[in-house]
Amino acid sequence: MPLVEEIDYGTPAVHSDTKVTLTIDGVAVTVPAGTSIMRAAMQMGTKIPKLCATDTLTAFGSCRLCLVEVDGRAGTPASCTTPVAANMVVHTQTPRLAQLRKGVMELYISDHPLDCLTCGANGDCELQDMAGAVGLRQVRYGYQGENHFSAAKDESNPYFSFDPAKCIVCSRCVRACEEVQGTFALTIDGRGFASKISPGMNESFLGSECVSCGACVQACPTATLIEKKVLEVGQPEHSVVTTCAYCGVGCSFKAEMRGEEVIRMVPWKGGKANHGHSCVKGRFAWGYATHKERITKPMIRARISEPWREVSWDEAIAHAAGEFKRIQAQYGTDSVGGITSSRCTIEETYLVQKLVRAGFGNNNVDTCARVCHSPTGYGLNATFGTSAGTQDFDSVMDADVIMIVGANPTDGHPVFASRMKRRLRQGAKLIVVDPRRIDIVRTPHVEAAYHLPLQPGTNVAVLTALAHVIVTEGLVNEAFVRDRCDWDAFSDWAAFVAEPRNSPAEVEKLSGVPAQSIIDAARLYATGGNAAIYYGLGVTEHSQGSTTVIAIANLAMATGNIGRPGVGVNPLRGQNNVQGACDMGSFPHELTGYRHISDDATRALFEDAWGVTLQPEPGLRIPNMFDAAVGGTFKGLYVQGEDILQSDPDTRHVSAGLAAMECIVVQDLFLNETANYAHVFLPGSTFLERDGIFINAERRVQRIRKVMTPRNGLADWQITARLSAALGLAMDYTHPSQIMDEIARLTPTFAGISYAKLDEAGSVQWPCNAEAPDGTPTMHIEQFARGKGRFLITEYQPTDERSNRKYPLLLTTGRILSQYNVGAQTRRTANVVWHEEDRLEIHPSDAEQRGIRTGDWVRLASRAGETALRATVTDRVAPGVVYTTFHHPMTQANVITTDYSDWATNCPEYKVTAVQISLSNGPSDWQKDYQAHSDLSRRIAPAVAAE
Ligand code: SF4
Ligand code: SF4
Ligand code: SF4
Ligand code: FES
Repeated sequence: MPLVEEIDYGTPAVHSDTKVTLTIDGVAVTVPAGTSIMRAAMQMGTKIPKLCATDTLTAFGSCRLCLVEVDGRAGTPASCTTPVAANMVVHTQTPRLAQLRKGVMELYISDHPLDCLTCGANGDCELQDMAGAVGLRQVRYGYQGENHFSAAKDESNPYFSFDPAKCIVCSRCVRACEEVQGTFALTIDGRGFASKISPGMNESFLGSECVSCGACVQACPTATLIEKKVLEVGQPEHSVVTTCAYCGVGCSFKAEMRGEEVIRMVPWKGGKANHGHSCVKGRFAWGYATHKERITKPMIRARISEPWREVSWDEAIAHAAGEFKRIQAQYGTDSVGGITSSRCTIEETYLVQKLVRAGFGNNNVDTCARVCHSPTGYGLNATFGTSAGTQDFDSVMDADVIMIVGANPTDGHPVFASRMKRRLRQGAKLIVVDPRRIDIVRTPHVEAAYHLPLQPGTNVAVLTALAHVIVTEGLVNEAFVRDRCDWDAFSDWAAFVAEPRNSPAEVEKLSGVPAQSIIDAARLYATGGNAAIYYGLGVTEHSQGSTTVIAIANLAMATGNIGRPGVGVNPLRGQNNVQGACDMGSFPHELTGYRHISDDATRALFEDAWGVTLQPEPGLRIPNMFDAAVGGTFKGLYVQGEDILQSDPDTRHVSAGLAAMECIVVQDLFLNETANYAHVFLPGSTFLERDGIFINAERRVQRIRKVMTPRNGLADWQITARLSAALGLAMDYTHPSQIMDEIARLTPTFAGISYAKLDEAGSVQWPCNAEAPDGTPTMHIEQFARGKGRFLITEYQPTDERSNRKYPLLLTTGRILSQYNVGAQTRRTANVVWHEEDRLEIHPSDAEQRGIRTGDWVRLASRAGETALRATVTDRVAPGVVYTTFHHPMTQANVITTDYSDWATNCPEYKVTAVQISLSNGPSDWQKDYQAHSDLSRRIAPAVAAE
């Protein structure tokens, strides 16, 4: 298998309806007006030598290598910065040009170390290639003149090195950081011969603003910026296109390999979600796949106090199936269930829900989306008729107003955030609704027009106040509402939002957001052109999460911001396949494609296909499973790829539920926290070890492709299939493509999707079927999925979780860029250099009252529990609000969170917990105990482990 080659056209594509025909080296070529000569030439297969140009960056015209001659024009213009013109006659190869180019290369090479044979980029260096391309054989100036050979290397970044001695100051890295990533961490310091690339103000990469996205490394034409792994192991030999296994952006990568070893992950330009960009996690943080703590052999134990015993796959599967059968015989059909994972493929989640419904014979299946985006499913289904975002990511480039509600894209969805920042730099206006002053509120060349720093728990009030302004100031798009929506429902809603109690002045009193900011933001959203809303878990993880999603949908419908590029309602999904897991019938009340289990016709379809009878009643949700376990009626659980003990709220209740069960089967890469309570451990495989499909936040269906043999011996879908067979339900798939074919047969919105289709198209967005054979980038264009859009009343109900004298502060939680979710993967990579512990952010005035300084250990206590961590004093959070991440098990922020949840979906209220903060001496007692308990439970029986 060769390396996947990508053509570099030198300058970005231009989109224009006007076409221009010119002649290059005697051949006529027609391109869109505005295209560079360099790109037009490459389109016909003519490579003009270049160094400072690449097609992901705006042309800069500094290296002077790409000179051409144009009939009728004096001089030798740079082909990268010269646009085509009608009837232009261009020559790319003439004796004069050859001489000029050779001269340019001579100058570069005379100040470049001549260590090509031992250089890490040997064979993958554009400088080397260009020297060959222009026929440079000798350097007349010698190598004794002034040079940069002794410039010191910067090895501070854990993943890439910077060797300025090899730099040709082409500025591709600087432009990549600005244009592609939008961080502006690099500058060209000095002038002329003294000019050099500098992170920040002559800082190291690690000490600068750099977020380690790697765009500069990818852009660098030399070995100046290069992956350390390439230096260590050598150039890759072959590659396969696959999809990132971290967040819901769903970046496409070329996994570049030597044998079975990953050398680097290079973002694929053909990826429609990322267009060749990535963040630090996808590009660099894949080392967990081969981490020494990975479990690769199945294990069982009779009691959780005993050490694990390694066993064969046959014994582990037989033991698990035997236990589930015993429990069902003893306690009834409904005494067991399963949890699917958003980190697994759609084929794998499909199989787990099939095993539960058809193998266990109940509907006790749920997924981690329960604790993140289940309100999205409910809210968007109730208003629009389908449980998914309305746009593709590219749509943001047509937005004039971008409203971000309860999301932190630069940390949570960084590649999409880069695109969003690019649009904002082009002039789109930004509204941020968030308790914290997240980075995008003010970042280089981007400043939010309005930041509404609301008190946690008041989303519904603020969004309804925005609607109040739109309705009372006559800013409703009445034509859209009359044509596309249920008018009666709209009228009821409009009367409700117009009530004085929903006015900005009233809402200011409870949300803390100045009334004028609400008024101004509402006017901008309603009248600023194409307006798009992007939201995250700060919307859904509340007791009114579903109501907030509905309020967002109401705003979009009232202003006609639905059904075309640049607008819409866009949930930023957390995990790589959370959309896919929801699509695949992972919820207890739904079969694939969001069809209710009580629907006779749908059930009959599946019963016919699977040869079983299905229960028509929804099964247990995750929190109900724990309740039932504590109550003694739920005894067995199959958990695929989720660490529910760490990720679910109210840890004490979760651990009580887990401890009460008789058989817990955990399938994962590592012995996670939940495995402390498990009786069977089935080692999982990584995204590099299996074939399958992930579906990202824009409904994009994308392949992952196997690049190495599973260390555990089996792909996750094979493990589920074997467990199912042992339970008596045969699953005779020989390849996951067959599972996809079954999904397509049973799910109308997926009817047109197959592996062959994805290999051909790269990716498609569902619905993809006979009506939409190429997929659906924008939804609800002619009409809503449910027919008429439905406005719903969004009555604000304050959460029962309020600050009080004992717990006077409100805790809200979130993510940081370098870590991912509960950190199981990223904590096992060098990403820990950026975030080795969870920290508590506290406002200076709250800190001062308590005598807390940055770095102090503090006790964080709520009515649910307490933990300890170190503090960071910052005004990013408002007075009265504290914030932390939840990436480290030693902090376990969910010890603090309560059992309150969304009224419609039980999504936990992670984002609002009343807490008290006080100085402490270090970790709390339970944290010390936890460490000891954790070590004990992970012990593997020495005799067996030694085999
Ligand atoms: S570091 Fe690489 S990309 Fe940046 S200026 Fe130097 S050679 Fe060009
Ligand atoms: S790694 Fe990314 S953020 Fe850092 S300097 Fe390079 S482009 Fe900029
Ligand atoms: S973590 Fe998300 S943004 Fe980063 S590379 Fe992976 S999919 Fe892209
Ligand atoms: S590639 Fe055109 S000037 Fe450098």
